[in-house]
Amino acid sequence: MLETLLNDVQTAAVLCNQFGDSGKGKVIHALAPWADVIARGTGGNNAGHTLILNGQEMVFHLIPSGIVYDHEGKINIMGNGMVIDLEELCKELDQLDTRKISYNNLMISQDAHVIMPYHISQDQQKNQSLAQGGIGSTGKGIGPCYTDKIARRGIMIGDLYDVDRLVKKIKKAELFYPEQKIDDGAIDDFIQKIKPLAARIKPFVRDTIQEMHQFYNQGKKILLEGAQGLLLSIEYGTYPYVTSSDCSLNGTAAGVGLSARAVDLPLGLVKFPFMTRVGGGPFPTELGGRDQEEYCQQPGRTLESELQLYEISSIREFNLESNQVRYDRRHPAILRMMNDSDPCTKAVGIRLAANEFGATTGRPRRIGWVDAVAARYAAGINGPYFVLTKVDCVADTGHFNVCYGYNTNGTISPLFSRDSEALRGVSPEYKQYEGYSDLRDLTSYDKFPQSVRKAITEFEWFTKGKVVMLSTGPKDNQIIVKEA
Ligand code: IMP
Repeated sequence: MLETLLNDVQTAAVLCNQFGDSGKGKVIHALAPWADVIARGTGGNNAGHTLILNGQEMVFHLIPSGIVYDHEGKINIMGNGMVIDLEELCKELDQLDTRKISYNNLMISQDAHVIMPYHISQDQQKNQSLAQGGIGSTGKGIGPCYTDKIARRGIMIGDLYDVDRLVKKIKKAELFYPEQKIDDGAIDDFIQKIKPLAARIKPFVRDTIQEMHQFYNQGKKILLEGAQGLLLSIEYGTYPYVTSSDCSLNGTAAGVGLSARAVDLPLGLVKFPFMTRVGGGPFPTELGGRDQEEYCQQPGRTLESELQLYEISSIREFNLESNQVRYDRRHPAILRMMNDSDPCTKAVGIRLAANEFGATTGRPRRIGWVDAVAARYAAGINGPYFVLTKVDCVADTGHFNVCYGYNTNGTISPLFSRDSEALRGVSPEYKQYEGYSDLRDLTSYDKFPQSVRKAITEFEWFTKGKVVMLSTGPKDNQIIVKEA
């Protein structure tokens, strides 16, 4: 079935049409066997793509998750639009070494920008804490690094191999980061730290734009791996509550040296029928509104603290990648909370049932119902093809909602607004559908419960889009092609 969908496709892209975290890792993993080249074009280690390989969960923050197919000769590219933390990149290479996953065909763009230590401190001091007026960034230095790029003073991967040029550029940074320590001693430390990391990645550094053009002209099959989500795009998202890259189809293609017109099959992922957001910013369909936003921001809120609070037992399991907390996602207390009439409690129930905690920061993700108004807007930019993910997670709620309009003082609009203040003032107009039970064993779309199919048909009609695939569980085979 997947073959039919990919028939005549040379370039496909996996993008998110919401606020990120929509399960791109799994869809990329499903499409990677088809591709010759897997390339990422935006963001840095603010992203986290989770995939399950041989029963083990793996999270990639920088390297495209197609790297697990390196041994088959597939090429993985970290594109010109990315920002790279060298230490984190080398840690990911270490992890691949430990797991005996090869990366012989990895290519790192000489034009990608380097996240420096002062970018990270600046981000953590100015942008991370919502309480101190930040936007709730991941604190990984993404914003300051892209700021330097746009201000034409950034450090690129290619600069790492010319020490004089590198020192000159870092010295210049002293001017723009007066609060950070960038004196001669600190510069010396940076250089000493950078040298071995730069040497380690040197064999993989390439002019990836030229390489990509060659691959494209040779007719190789290319899979673009998006990061974050359209509603977080600097260009199209809920500015200023956005990330600093354009994570739309346009930005993703530009970030690997291609035109968006080269992409035959852009897939826009939406979680359905719930959605999430991490960090600050408007979220019209959020359950519990500001109360939940504030609850999720409180320091110390983690999966474990939430499980403790609701007396749900768990165990901590250690493996190579991370130590993970295991618990019963269908625990009776969770099912009870999912059906609670209090929206904040319902949000906790859905968060625990769907395990919605940040792959990068561990923060609880804010929960709401799926927003077809935002999805329609996203499809206008990323194209009409939708993939619905995590559809199984809210099984056993009595009903679910889909938002088809924004109500502002009695006026209902089907249009999304980028104006964060306006967006905070709207209330969602929902249509309610009957809930459903477990979907994970379903093998074809026509076996889906009638209420889900009805909601999907109406979602397609409203968004003018086409749902082509659905993901119904974490396993590779829990993916259903609806239409080719
Ligand atoms: P930054 O990208 O670290 O600058 O963070 C800017 C905003 O984007 C914050 O609200 C983050 O929570 C959000 N963000 C960044 N990366 C991701 C992601 O991969 N998934 C979801 N939200 C993200």
